[in-house]
Amino acid sequence: MANRRVKKISIAMDGPAGSGKSTVARRIAAELGLLYIDTGAMYRGITLKALRQGISLYDETALGRLARETSLEFKEMPDGSQHLFMDGEDVSEEIRSMPVNDGVSLVAAVKEVRTALLEIQQKLGARGGVVMDGRDIGTVVLPRAEWKFFLTASSLERARRRWRELKAKGLNVSLAEIEANISRRDEIDSNRKVNPLRPAADAIHLDTTEMGIEEVVDWIKKKVGEGKTNASL
Ligand code: DC
Repeated sequence: MANRRVKKISIAMDGPAGSGKSTVARRIAAELGLLYIDTGAMYRGITLKALRQGISLYDETALGRLARETSLEFKEMPDGSQHLFMDGEDVSEEIRSMPVNDGVSLVAAVKEVRTALLEIQQKLGARGGVVMDGRDIGTVVLPRAEWKFFLTASSLERARRRWRELKAKGLNVSLAEIEANISRRDEIDSNRKVNPLRPAADAIHLDTTEMGIEEVVDWIKKKVGEGKTNASL
């Protein structure tokens, strides 16, 4: 009975790049038997397609059309990881490349792109049972989520985390380059007109600067386990 109840809840996980939310959201989803949805990956997919087609990242009309015409699907791999398929092609690796990192905030600031992706995200979340991570999940995509977390960390720590991640994948990027990229994205994501990065009024804030992943996961699981939600169940 308790298990069935846990399966229906939705968790919104928002915060800036490198706050740890994706890793934490993925872990929480696996441990609570919920579906993990990485909405940032969807914005990255549209950015990748625009770059491949030579569409200007300032051409809002073309980007909007692209987002409406593109099929985006998450599929679970045998190892349990979620891969993004764009028009049937697995683009999970390529959406993490530096050109996409550099351009994605511009694409995510376009209203028509957000409207198209919001529709897909809300369909995925309609039946509950999801952990969704992004920038506007608690405020716009799942405003009625039972749990809303807003994760932050200092910009230096966030840059260090991204740097370690990329280094582990064999990519040779300087910490300074990543810090610059993160600050620029923070700036665009927080100041854009449409659905900027903002904590929901009822979100639970957590500064993860001094915390390891395990610690954050345990902290959130404990909160959720306590059963007191910030929206009514
Ligand atoms: O979480 P991420 O770094 O993969 O996100 C990529 C970009 O997409 C980031 O610049 C912010 C944007 N984004 C957004 O605007 N809204 C979301 N729900 C998720 C991501």
